Amino acid sequence: MDDNFPLSLSYDDVLLVPQRTAVHSRKQTDVSSRLSRHLRLQIPIVSANMDTVTESTMAIAMARAGGIGIIHRFLPVDGQAAEVRRVKRAENFVIDRPYACRPDDSIATAIDRMQEDDVGTLMVVDAAGKLVGLLGTRDVQFIRDRARPVASAMRPRAQLVVGPPEIDMAGASQVFAEQKIDKLPLVDAGDRLVGLITARDLLRIGENPRAAKDKRGRLLVGAAIGVLGDYMARAAALIEQDVDVLVIDIAHGHSDQVITVAGEVKARWPRIELIAGNVATAEGTRDLIAAGVDAVKVGVGPGSACTTRIVAGAGVGQFTAVRECAAAARAQEIPLIADGGIKAPGDLTKALAAGASTVMIGGMLAGTDESPGRPLTRHGRRYKRYRGMASLAATVDRRKRERLDPGADDEWISDVVPEGVEALVAYRGSVAEVLTQLVGGLRSGMSYCGAFTLAELQQKARFTRITAAGLRESHPHDVELE
Ligand code: XMP
Repeated sequence: MDDNFPLSLSYDDVLLVPQRTAVHSRKQTDVSSRLSRHLRLQIPIVSANMDTVTESTMAIAMARAGGIGIIHRFLPVDGQAAEVRRVKRAENFVIDRPYACRPDDSIATAIDRMQEDDVGTLMVVDAAGKLVGLLGTRDVQFIRDRARPVASAMRPRAQLVVGPPEIDMAGASQVFAEQKIDKLPLVDAGDRLVGLITARDLLRIGENPRAAKDKRGRLLVGAAIGVLGDYMARAAALIEQDVDVLVIDIAHGHSDQVITVAGEVKARWPRIELIAGNVATAEGTRDLIAAGVDAVKVGVGPGSACTTRIVAGAGVGQFTAVRECAAAARAQEIPLIADGGIKAPGDLTKALAAGASTVMIGGMLAGTDESPGRPLTRHGRRYKRYRGMASLAATVDRRKRERLDPGADDEWISDVVPEGVEALVAYRGSVAEVLTQLVGGLRSGMSYCGAFTLAELQQKARFTRITAAGLRESHPHDVELE
């Protein structure tokens, strides 16, 4: 037996050694990075697939800022697919499948549809898919007899300005400016509806030039799947909504199940970007890469709401895990996501310098307006709820929803062995503010290392190990904080 255990370091055990720099302003640094084999982000930050962190509102905010959100999988399949759809529709330049109704539908039906889909305008198309009119909330608001057909209230085709399917952004902007309209339906030569451009989307695209987008101008979004039960149906539903990346996510990702599921997903959808994890070793990284994944997620137990290391006694210090996994992934040029344990902007810089291409964050984003749930007040301070996905409450909720334990009695609850906690995190305002701090700290760290890009950061980074006294010295000390 080998008692020469390797040392396992955490972010707090190391610092980046300052080096001569030619970076004079943080603005000179480029923080864009690869999420997976074919996807690139403008900022190297991913919001965690946890039910107190990422649903569509968070994913939209993350992609607008240049990162990405991964929609959690603790929702029914259609609920998770709807979250993906919301993101893909949030800011597209061309909406491919605009919400529509038929001319002979009742106005009541059309209003229900508008409310359900949260839109103010429906395209009116006939059975052959031809555009015959447009129905907005303003067209129906004073109509008492809601049994009347849509055709009697809509703006008819003859009054509509339409565009060709191949119109580009500049062309569309010109039409909006000249015609003073706010919706531009796109029709083909046979007058069939093939898309829709809205003024609001065009304006918003101008506001977020650094947003993470797909080829058609829609925000990027990912979604998680598991390895049991309905995972293939779930993957199919998410792909149907044009999800950009799937994440096979289980606590111990170096498992035969993950390798099998990765193979199945890639065999059925060879072109889908696929991330898998979590692993904490070079062997785990190599095995997932051999299974065909496009990025590997690293981290066993570093998360702020995790108790895996305490309950199971297993894990690897996150800094060491990232370094070892990066060494294994580098040869194959597969990006790594360092998942969990980011407590401050400096940890982000350390993770990327150690070899990760992006980091996944839960706790630091859970306190924002964009995470699910409302802020609450305790002792005069505002908080939001955050829970590990293996916490008792999350496990019980999931099992009840999946009806894995039918029957009225809840005796099985005492058999649950949680590996996470339910917690409160300080309310932090908008995600954009948190990301500004994280990215600002990263740019500053790059400048200390003399790096203009993240690739250069990884090449140049030199680490130094510190002691408990060093960690104390790093934090504010011997002062009373105001
Ligand atoms: P942070 O530190 O950003 O970490 O809050 C987020 C990551 O924590 C992982 N996670 C868990 N790990 N038990 C665990 O051991 C859990 O219940 C749990 N829930 C989430 C996950 O990798 C996430 O991205």
